[in-house]
Formats: sequence, C-alpha cells, structure tokens
Amino acid sequence: MNDAARQQSSSVKPRVTIALQHEQQTRRADDKMWVDVIQRMENSYTDLVHYQLELEAKNAELENAQRFIESIISSISDVLIVCDINGNILQVNDALKTATGKSSVELAGTPLTALISDKNQTVIAEFPKRIRTASIIDCEIDLLSYNNDDVPMAVNCSARFDHNNNLSGFVITGRPLGELRKAYHELHQSHEDLKNAQQQLIQSEKLASLGRLVAGVAHELNNPISFLYANMHALRTYENKFKIYINSIHDGATNDEREKLRQELKIDNMMHDIEPLIEGSLEGAERVSDIVKNLRKFATPQAGHKQIFDLIPVIERATSWVIKASTGKPKIVSDYPECLEIYNSEGHIHQILINLIQNAIDAIADNKEPLLNIQIRIKNKMVAISIQDNGSGISEQDIVKIFDPFFTTKAAGHGTGLGLYISYGLATEQCSGNLMALSHHTKNKGAEFILSLPLEMTP
Ligand SMILES: Nc1ncnc2c1ncn2[C@@H]1O[C@H](COP(=O)(O)OP(=O)(O)OP(=O)(O)O)[C@@H](O)[C@H]1O
Ligand SMILES: [Mg+2]
Repeated sequence: MNDAARQQSSSVKPRVTIALQHEQQTRRADDKMWVDVIQRMENSYTDLVHYQLELEAKNAELENAQRFIESIISSISDVLIVCDINGNILQVNDALKTATGKSSVELAGTPLTALISDKNQTVIAEFPKRIRTASIIDCEIDLLSYNNDDVPMAVNCSARFDHNNNLSGFVITGRPLGELRKAYHELHQSHEDLKNAQQQLIQSEKLASLGRLVAGVAHELNNPISFLYANMHALRTYENKFKIYINSIHDGATNDEREKLRQELKIDNMMHDIEPLIEGSLEGAERVSDIVKNLRKFATPQAGHKQIFDLIPVIERATSWVIKASTGKPKIVSDYPECLEIYNSEGHIHQILINLIQNAIDAIADNKEPLLNIQIRIKNKMVAISIQDNGSGISEQDIVKIFDPFFTTKAAGHGTGLGLYISYGLATEQCSGNLMALSHHTKNKGAEFILSLPLEMTP
C-alpha cells in the first residue's frame, strides 16, 4: 500500500469508531429511558392496586356503617323524620309509615309542612330557626295520615351538622300521643289502685290497733266498774236495812225493840262502812272518767295537736293498755323520772308507744321469763325513750326492712306490717323526732327501739 492509501485508511478508521460509539451511547440512553418508564409504570400500577384495595376496604366500611345506621333507624319504634336546612324531608323511618301510612320514597324531597296538620303549620315553620339556638323538647303536633286524619305526636327536634360542623338540617323524633296517653292513664290507674289498697290496709291496721286498744281499755274499765258495782250492791243492801230500822222507829218501836233491831241489822257497822263505800265509788267513777278522757285524747281527730304534757303517764298508760290486752304478763323494768313535761303531740306519741310495746310483747310471747325494759335518757336537748325486750331480736336481713310498709314476719292475720311504718312516719314527720331499731340478738338481748323526741317546752 502506498502512503496516500495508508493515510486514507488511517483517517477513515477513527471516524467509523466514533460513529459506532455514538450509536451505542444513544441506544444505551434509550434503554435507560425505557427502563425508567417501565419502572414508573410499575410503581404507578402498584400504587393503583394499593389505592383500589384501600378504596374497596373504605367502601365496605361505608356500607357496613350505612347498614348499621339503617338497621338502627328501622328498629326504632319512635317516629323519625330527617330534614334539610330548608325543611324538606330527606328520610323517614318505618315507624312513621306505620303511624301515617306514608313511606320514605313518597315523602323524600317533599316539604315537612305537607306532613303536618294545618293547625301546627306556624309552629313547624319555626323549627329551622329555633333549633339554631336549642333543641326543641316535648312539643305536641299532629301529623297528617294518608287519609288526612290527625295523628297526635309528642316530638323532639334537634339540629343536624355536616362533616365541617356546619348546620345541615334537623331531625325530628316523635312518639304517638295516643300511646303515651294510654300508658299514662294505665299508670295513673294502677297508682290509684295501689293507693286504695294501701289505704285499705292502713285502715285495717288502724282497726287492728283499735281492737287492741278497746281490749286494753275494757280491762282498765273492768276494775273500777266492778268496784263500783260491788259498792252499789252493798249500799242497796244497807238501804233496805236502814229502811227497816227507820220504819220501826216511825211505827213507834220501844227502846228495847229498837236496840234489838240495831244489833240484828248491824246498823253501827253499816254506818261505819258508808263513808269508805261512797269514797270508793267516787274514786271508781273518777277512774272511769279519767280513762274515758284519755281515750278521747287518743281518739279525737285532734290527736296531732301539740301541747305541753307529762310524758310519763302516757308511757304508763300505753304499757298498761297493751299488757292488759295480752295473755302473757311480762316483768316490767322501768327507769324514768316521775314527771317529764315536753311539748309535742300526745296522741301520736301514745300511738307510737302502743305499736312499739305491742311488737315487744309479741316478740316475748313464747319467752319463759318475758322482760320489758323501758328507760328514758336525756341527751343533747332530746329525750330518748328506749323499749327493749328479751325476745329473739331482729336478724340483719330483716332490720333494714322493718320500717318498710307491709313488711311483717308474723303469720297471716296477725300483722299487717304497717305498725312500724306508721310509727316512723308519725315520729319523724309529726313529732319532729326519730325512731330507730337496734337488735341485740347476737347477745341474746332481743330488740331495742328508741323513740327520740325534742325536749322542747315551748311551741
Ligand atoms: N321487738 C321486736 N322484736 C323482734 N322483731 C320485731 C320487733 N318489732 C318489730 N319486729 C319485726 O318487724 C316487723 C314489722 O313490725 P310492724 O310493727 O311494722 O308490723 P307487724 O307487727 O308485723 O304488724 P302490725 O304492727 O301491722 O300488726 C315485725 O313483723 C317483726 O318481724
Ligand atoms: Mg307491729
């Protein structure tokens, strides 16, 4: 090869190489771009799949929430009306269809006013404005039924907000008033029946305590009356003898005859007896009169009248009345002053004491050595009358119930369970005091009832 040819071949060779290198570089750049594009497409596809899955999950959640709300709405027995802010109905529940015969499909989009009776239009027109300030509670309106009949309802209305917490409408819930009125009527009726039954039982409790009272009073009266009767009988015999003696004087009997008759008729003894007989009779009559007076105090409707009185004779009278009417004769231990004046209702206190002593006597009826301990303690301007027996006491389960009405552990016909209930009411409400029970059954000391009364001397 000559020089020219050599030169030519050496200059062509580098040019071809450069072109080749350039082509290769371009191809590599293209490849990289494609790889990039594919990579991005893959990423986008992965994102898309991810978003799709998330969307599906959200959709399922949304559907669940919707079904949950729908099932709750359809199970609500109260009427439900959902409205937009302009008062157009968006949704109603099945209860509204039952009450008015109009379905959600029919009502959706119609104004609420079309569902309401003419007489309530003004009130309903105010709802969108009123709920801005506060919920509407217990408003009585009439809905219109399919046949344009009024369906009275008691409704509540509250505001509805969107996700930005902006007011978006209101929700009305309502209950047919007919049902409410019926329920109220039934409640009222059963309350009346209960009050009547309670009244009857209180009446029978009063009759039972009246029975006990009468028995006690009869015993009390028995003594002075038999005393009076015996004295009168003696005075009548004396009267006959005196008549015989005086008639013999009138008929001109001689001194001897008169003296003989005087001995025979025991005129001197009779003369001696007359004064104690009359004294005794007067005392008996006074006793009867006292008992009647006491009885009147207890029985008059003014039993609640407060006055100053001596508490001690009231305690003694209540004790003797109950004990005389009962079969057992318990030993009575008493510890109280001779006289204790208080300002209170004597009749009520007497009635409470009768109930407490009667319960104590009932509790020790089967006791071989029945004991009743009555004490008075004075503390903090209060007088506490304690009545304790040695019966079987009151168990922990029962002691919390004994002041409840109708609680009794006595056999049917022997107790109404109202004695302590009435006594507690009288002590706390009428006598400004208190009544409490303690049971010492764990120490075999029976039960103790403490009636506390204010030691007031002035009204
Ligand atoms: N001293 C007591 N000892 C034991 N239990 C008592 C005593 N006092 C009351 N209880 C119990 O309290 C219950 C309720 O007494 P409460 O006087 O209210 O009614 P009752 O005596 O059963 O009937 P009622 O007094 O109406 O005739 C009694 O049934 C009895 O179980
Ligand atoms: Mg009783």
